[in-house]
Order: sequence, then structure tokens, then C-alpha cells
Amino acid sequence: MMKIGRVGLLVLTVLILNCSASSAWFGNKHKSGKTSILPGEASSSSSSFSSSSFLRRPGSSIVFPIHGNVYPVGFYNVTLNIGQPPRPYFLDLDTGSDLTWLQCDAPCSRCSETPHPLYRPSNDLVPCDDPLCASLHHTNDYNCDYPDQCHYEIDYADQYSSLGVLVKDVYLLNFTNGIQLKVRMGLGCGYDQLFPASSYHPVDGVLGLGRGRASLISQLSSQGLLRNVVGHCLSTHGGGYMFFGDVYDSSRVTWTPMSSTDIKHYSAEAAELVFGGKATGVGNLLAIFDTGSSYTYFNFHAYQALISWLKKELHGKPLREAPDDQTVPLCWHGKRPFRSIQEVRKYFKPLALSFATSRRAKSVFEIPPEAYLIISNYGNVCLGILNGSELGMGDLNLIGDISMLDKLMVYDNDKQLIGWSPANCDRVPKSRDVSI
Ligand SMILES: *[C@@H]1O[C@H](CO)[C@@H](O)[C@H](O)[C@H]1NC(C)=O
Ligand SMILES: *[C@@H]1O[C@H](CO)[C@@H](O)[C@H](O)[C@H]1NC(C)=O
Ligand SMILES: *[C@@H]1O[C@H](CO)[C@@H](O)[C@H](O)[C@H]1NC(C)=O
Repeated sequence: MMKIGRVGLLVLTVLILNCSASSAWFGNKHKSGKTSILPGEASSSSSSFSSSSFLRRPGSSIVFPIHGNVYPVGFYNVTLNIGQPPRPYFLDLDTGSDLTWLQCDAPCSRCSETPHPLYRPSNDLVPCDDPLCASLHHTNDYNCDYPDQCHYEIDYADQYSSLGVLVKDVYLLNFTNGIQLKVRMGLGCGYDQLFPASSYHPVDGVLGLGRGRASLISQLSSQGLLRNVVGHCLSTHGGGYMFFGDVYDSSRVTWTPMSSTDIKHYSAEAAELVFGGKATGVGNLLAIFDTGSSYTYFNFHAYQALISWLKKELHGKPLREAPDDQTVPLCWHGKRPFRSIQEVRKYFKPLALSFATSRRAKSVFEIPPEAYLIISNYGNVCLGILNGSELGMGDLNLIGDISMLDKLMVYDNDKQLIGWSPANCDRVPKSRDVSI
């Protein structure tokens, strides 16, 4: 069966439910809750600790190990400890959306099977006029029928959706300098999830890492705890790590500005597709870097061009199309089953995206064969770049996990830059080991 990763890209609708029975019911249910909430926005686990001295330290950061792979798992997850007392939750890593939410016992009308017991929401509701609530809505003219609560609905491009209410709760965070902090931040209590079976992932929720104000890194930086920088390093061997804050050696990173037109996503300005080191004339590509998608998606023209180059290149090579292999739409078999990409990489040319960073300079994002091919369970080599038109993505291109493997990716929201550098993602930086 074809397995598509979460394309956590398109937040199609986020709305306040007017007069819905569930919103009234939620408010009633939790007004008399008993959970106590920390008084400050950020408070330390040690009483002698002064948060302002911490804030002045340069280079503060948090590193999280991550688990998963492109194939066969199809997603990456990270563990976050949330609530009082803190409990662990597995979250799907998504740079394509902002809101972090957990499947939630409010009670839950529709939740999927979760690795941990459902999150029990705090009684600290985010009010409707809170900037966090406003940031989840496309326009400013949403209604606050229930002024004391903020409902959201997120629809992802792979048909997954979550409906819920925003609460604030405590996140337990280990900073790399050894300090552990409890930080109170907003999250979604998702009590109604809908998804097709193909987009089911065994996780407790989604970790939104996007550019918007609701994302965890934006909330952490608005509390003065970290620079608004997020990054990740996904290994071809599976796993890797993600980080918040200043934790990388910027001299090795290639940078390109974030798009000034698509301010919702981590997208860069228009790129040109490079095939086998040669410019192709397939240009003006808008690319979104999206860890919520395990594969890469090209738009109509780029996909069509890629398929025709590959067919031409593979002509006369000992690879034949394998239509029986339904792992993804296009696979090839050899004389014997393949065990690794190394055995076939000689038949495939590298791809790249060339971003015009300034009038004279270009930043090149290399996509070598390992970053666009997989070996299926049947021993065939398959194309990990899919036809975005079939998802109805219009002109957009998604750079999924597969094409970001073995790269340190950095999204610097303060400087509005996206950066990358080749990296060994198997080595998760330890505490105090600040430079990756
Ligand atoms: C999610 O991460 C946890 C560890 O943090 C790991 O035990 C679990 O297997 C991961 N889930 C998947 C499906 O990879
Ligand atoms: C944070 O650090 C504590 C103590 O050093 C450790 O027990 C815990 O597992 C860490 N939590 C995470 C999420 O890394
Ligand atoms: C991609 O999908 C679109 C829409 O389904 C289709 O018209 C187009 O032919 C596909 N492209 C290729 C190269 O298969």
C-alpha cells in the first residue's frame, strides 16, 4: 500500500466554532478543574535560580533526540514532557505547521490509538482575545462567542484534521547548559481527529515547528528563553535530533532568505531545478521545507520533467520498471533485489535546487540519489519524489524528510533565513556540547 507521510503543510481552515455545543460543554466541564498552574510565565525547578541571569546567557539551546525514518516507518517523532506532573508524549515532527496539539481527553469524541494515555487538559484555557488565538486565524474578524476559550480546527494536506481548544500547560525542558525549566505555554487539546487510514501514525499528537506565533519556538523566544531558531538533523540510518536556539556552527551553513510572500511556511524564494549538475530551465519553483512529509513532492512541471529525465537516463541501464511494487508510484527492479542505495546510485544523477540568494549569489541545496530514492521491502529502487498535483498542491513543492537526510537544517526566524550544511546526524549533541 502506498504510504504518504503527514503533509503538515496546508492549514486550510482554522476557525472559531460559533455556538457549538462542544465549546460550551468544554467550558463547563473544566471551569471547576483543580489543576494548579504555575504563577509565572517561566519558572525554574530550582528555587535559587533566577531566570533573568539565564536569559542573558548567549547560546542557550535545547536538543531533542528523535526517532523514526522515511521508509518504512514514514515519520519522525520526538518525546516531550507536558503537564503537571509532566508526562511523556510522542509527537510527530512538523515544520509545516505551527500549533502543537495532543489527542486529548476532554473527553475525546474521536481519537486514534495513542502510545500513551490521552492528555488530560489543564483548566487554564487560552481566552479568545489572546494573541495566540488570533495567530491561528487567517483574519482578524473571527467571533468570540465564548470569550474565555479559543477553538481551533487544523486541516492538513493529507486529510488529517484536528479540532480542539487551546489551553496552557507546563512543558518540562532540559536546556543544554544543564538547567531544567518548567515553561508554561499554549497547546491544542484535540478532542476530535479525522484522518484516512493511510495517514495514521502511532503518536500522541503533532509538534508544530512553523514560523507562526503559536509554534513552541516562537512562544519560547517571546518569553526571552531562546533565540527564535529551530533546526533538525535527520539521519539516513533513522533517528537524529532536533534543536531550539543557537546550537550550530553558522560558518559551515549555506543560507538563503525565507520567502517574503509565503509567510506561513519555511519556504525560500524561487529556485531552479538542477539535474546532473546542469541547469534545466525548470525554474520559479516555490519549495516548502516540511518535516511533516516523509517524501518530497514536485509540482506538475517539475515532476513531469524529472520523470522524463529519469526515463532517458535509465534507458539501456539494467533497471526495469516494477509496476507490481506499490510502495510508491514509481519503482524499478534489477536482476537481483537491491539491499542498499549504494548498489544503484551510479545509475542516478544528483538533483539540486538553486536558490537565487541575491542578484549574484546562488545557494545550492543538493539532493543526491540517497535523498530521493528508497529501497523498498521488495528490493526495488523507488522514487521518493512524488507527484504533488495528485495531492492538489498547485504550484507548491514540498521538500520532505527524504531530501533533508544527513543535513543540518536551520530555520532562523529572527534573521528570516533558512540554512543547511552536510552533517553526521547520528551523533546527538549532549548537554553542554553546544556546538554541533
Ligand atoms: C517514538 O519515539 C520513542 C522514543 O522517544 C520511541 O520509543 C518510539 O519507538 C518512537 N515511535 C516510532 C513509531 O518510531
Ligand atoms: C531531562 O533531564 C533529566 C535529568 O537530567 C532526565 O532524567 C530526563 O530524562 C531529561 N528529559 C528529557 C526529555 O530529555
Ligand atoms: C501528475 O498528476 C497529475 C494530476 O493527477 C496528472 O495530470 C499528471 O499527468 C501527473 N504527472 C505525471 C508525470 O505522471
